[in-house]
Parts: sequence; C-alpha cells; structure tokens
Amino acid sequence: MTYNPGYFNLRLKKLIPVDEFIEKVLYEPKIGYYTKKIPFGSQGDFITAPTISNLFSEIISIWVVSVWEKLGKPKTFNFVELGPGDGSLAKVFVNTIKKFPELNDSINIYLYEKSKLLSNLQKKKLKGSKIKWIRNFDKIKKGPVIFFGNEFFDAIPIKQFLVEKKSLLEKCYSVDPASGLDEAYQKANREDVKKIKTFKALEGLKFIEFPKLGFLELDKIVKKINDLSGGILLIDYGYLNVINRSTLQTVMKNKKIDMNHLFKNLGRADISSLVNFSLLKEYFLKNKLKVKKIVSQKFFLEKMGIIERVKVLEKNMTFKQKEYMSLTLRRLLNKELMGGLFKVIFAFKSKNSNFLGFK
Ligand SMILES: C[S@@+](CC[C@H](N)C(=O)[O-])C[C@H]1O[C@@H](n2cnc3c(N)ncnc32)[C@H](O)[C@@H]1O
Repeated sequence: MTYNPGYFNLRLKKLIPVDEFIEKVLYEPKIGYYTKKIPFGSQGDFITAPTISNLFSEIISIWVVSVWEKLGKPKTFNFVELGPGDGSLAKVFVNTIKKFPELNDSINIYLYEKSKLLSNLQKKKLKGSKIKWIRNFDKIKKGPVIFFGNEFFDAIPIKQFLVEKKSLLEKCYSVDPASGLDEAYQKANREDVKKIKTFKALEGLKFIEFPKLGFLELDKIVKKINDLSGGILLIDYGYLNVINRSTLQTVMKNKKIDMNHLFKNLGRADISSLVNFSLLKEYFLKNKLKVKKIVSQKFFLEKMGIIERVKVLEKNMTFKQKEYMSLTLRRLLNKELMGGLFKVIFAFKSKNSNFLGFK
C-alpha cells in the first residue's frame, strides 16, 4: 500500500500537536497501528515482559495476592489490568489466583483495553474465565481496587514543548506527502502551560514532555483509588533524572526506526515514549496517594522471589528448557536490558504501607 496521509485524516500542511498525531497513527479506527496489527512477539514488532515468559506474570500475580493479604483479605477485591495487550498476563493471573480459593471467591478481574482488535484477541484467549472487559470504572463500586499496567503508560501519546525565553512552544508536525513529516512549533495553549508550571519535576527544562492524555487516564484511576482504597502498580521503560530531549521512539519488526521512516510506515510501526517517573511520583502525591520508593524491574522481581521460583521450576526441566529459562531471566533482570531500563512505581491509599517488592 502506498502511504496516503488522507487515510489518517491528517490535515495536510496544518500543524498537528505531537500527541494528536500519534493518537491518530496508533488508534484511528481500522487503520491505526493498534487497530489492525497484533504487535507482540518475535514475529511482531516488539517483545514485552509478559510475552517473553509466564514467569513475569506469575510474579505479578503473587504480588497481587500479597497486597490482598496486606489489606486484610477483603471479601470484595478488584483487580484491573490496564492495556493487557495479547492477554498473556491475564491468562497466567486467572490460573494463579485459582490456587488461592479465598481470594478467587473475592476477586473481580477487569481488563481495560482501548483497541477492539486486542480486546477480541484477549476474549478468545480468556474464554470461559471470570474476566470482564470495561471501558470505564463505573462498575467498580465496592472493595479496594488494584490497577496494574505493564507498558501501558508509555503507549499513551505525550505532548512535547520547547522552552524559549521562559515561553512554551508546542511541537507539532505538518504532513507533506512529497517530503514527509516536518516539525514546527506553535505557541502553547494557556491551560497546558498553567498545568505544566505546577510540576516541580518539569522546572528548568529546555525540552518538556508532558503526558496530558496519560494524566487524563490516571485522573479516573486515582479517583477510584481515593474512593475505594487500593493502588496502582505501573511498570515502564523510563527515567528518574532529567533527559531534556525527545524520548519518542518508533519500532517495527523489533528494530528502532527514525521519524521519516515512520512517515512511510504510518500505521505499521509502534510509537512510544520513555516515562518520566519523577513526574509520575509528583502527580500521585499531588493527588493524595502515597508512593513507594521507585525501583528497577530487576529489584522488584528479585525481591518478589523470581530467582527462587526459577530454582523450583528448574527441578523438572530438560537441559534445553533450562537454557531458555536462563535466557528469559537475563532479559527480565539484566541491568542493560529490561531489568535496569524498566522502573516500577506503586501509588496507593491504605493504612498499611508494608507492601512487598520495594525494600
Ligand atoms: C505496549 S502495549 C502493552 C501490552 C501488555 N501490557 C504487555 O506488556 O504485553 C500497550 C497496551 O495498552 C493499550 N492501551 C493504550 N492506551 C490505552 C488506553 N488509553 N486505554 C486502554 N488501553 C490502552 C494498548 O492497546 C495495548 O494493549
């Protein structure tokens, strides 16, 4: 198919803010990336922790069991997976929870997914389970609620701004079918500027990334947590210290591609950004949640006993299976790979703060 920006309803030559542009390219009905392509796995465009191995999903499930225990084993308990992708984690989650009958009787499990293609895939994979699919959180009325998202927040388009003489200029794209994508800047909207100025984590930066759409999603989540108690665990590729440049990245067939390459492949490549965890923390604190110390994926998984779990599993494994398991562990734990690049944040409302995985 030759590229046609018209397919994406992109206003030629007009300036489109970065987040609106990405939103169209990823989610425009029928043609957006997440509406027509299953992106995960070695045959896809990128690999995520739950699609590498069940081990990651098992550990997350056990962590949820531990939270339910710390909260005093409430009779009604809710778990929401945010952006569940191909449903790999949810499948392991329902099977693991079955081993804890008291929790299994108390828990409502929800999947929150924006892409119709992916929610259909999840429904197929999880047929016969007690899972419910939701597009808002109105149904959750009673009992603490735990939200979990792996690579959820980094998949939500961000806004970008250049700071010039203390003024904010918003980065936009204009689309020229002949030459590709052009970058241009326009005066930022006053409300966005006002909001951005309330965050200490963005002070003094020359280039600002602001997850306006991501925060709109979190606003609904944080409100639920404040109403019912519970928390949100997010795992993402991200950073704690200032970066001061664009962190947008586009991947296709497990390789990074540049923005002009992306232009020729609109709807065929994923676009994500690195998550600013200091900003996330500040956002949660502003919204009256407590926040555990932000840790790396390696730290969290090791504290949750991933190494011990592997030792148990290895007892019944062939040499080949053991080899594969150690490769998997390396990917999940290596500091230069997911282990160090991915961070874990838990924001919560509860009298108990002694949750596992963070110290
Ligand atoms: C990068 S994938 C991660 C999938 C999965 N969690 C994993 O780790 O394999 C991002 C997921 O979030 C979903 N998503 C992105 N924005 C969303 C939103 N605003 N509401 C619900 N789901 C969303 C995508 O459709 C996709 O399922």
